Amino acid sequence: MYKIFDTVDEVSRYTAQRLLTKIKAAPTAVLGLATGSTMEPVYAQMLQDLQHTPIDVSQLTTFNLDEYIGLSAQHPQSYNYYMCQHLFNQLNIPTENVHLPDGLASNIDTACQAYSNAIEAKGGLDLQLLGIGSNGHIGFNEPHTSFNSRTHIVELSEQTRIDNGRFFNDQNEVPTHAITMGIQDILNAKEIILVATGSNKSAIIAQLFASAIDEALPASALKQHKNLTIVLDRDAAALLPEPALQNAISTLTA
Ligand code: F6R
Repeated sequence: MYKIFDTVDEVSRYTAQRLLTKIKAAPTAVLGLATGSTMEPVYAQMLQDLQHTPIDVSQLTTFNLDEYIGLSAQHPQSYNYYMCQHLFNQLNIPTENVHLPDGLASNIDTACQAYSNAIEAKGGLDLQLLGIGSNGHIGFNEPHTSFNSRTHIVELSEQTRIDNGRFFNDQNEVPTHAITMGIQDILNAKEIILVATGSNKSAIIAQLFASAIDEALPASALKQHKNLTIVLDRDAAALLPEPALQNAISTLTA
């Protein structure tokens, strides 16, 4: 299902409400979380909504999608740091319930396996939040990643390193490798919300819309999922065919 809103603000309000509704209905929910620019206004909106209407988040469990290899949790560009800044520092989720891949693990293969196992041991992800890379990656699953993949090491594509270079002082500082949840881990989530905003996502969203399920386009794996919502602003949706656009245009009721 596609949902298209006029503005990033509306996209964020809708997505934050979906997350909060889930948490309210299932206080012990297991959430899969993403980082990146797209999620910043979503998390800000969630925190704002929680200030107005507090909800118990103390029993939640979270698993983040990915982390750079070689960056400590204190590194300002690590995803651990991002999550603390944008969400966790302001929520009382017990730290033992918060999980991110460890980019400094001494045995990364073992750590990867343990990460997928930990998700399973919690009964799987109830809801996975996703962004999308301009090359169609989800998590850091780059084009041609197996749809059967579990948490693994990836060599970041040049496109992804260029896209993410904006967060670093120097392009050379962008790590070359990361750990990501696999596509199978993501597909196992009971519910998935993919969010894309801005005109820089319009081409990949149109490609995703038109694409068959194909490992060359990682996000196309989501087309086999039974409970997927793709939430877009008008800019990200701009290259969708007109009938699809008209059918998916949504307005916020609240
Ligand atoms: C981040 C992640 C990535 C991003 C994607 C879009 O945890 O898994 O797949 O969602 O690269 O990033 P932004 O939102 O910065 O365009």
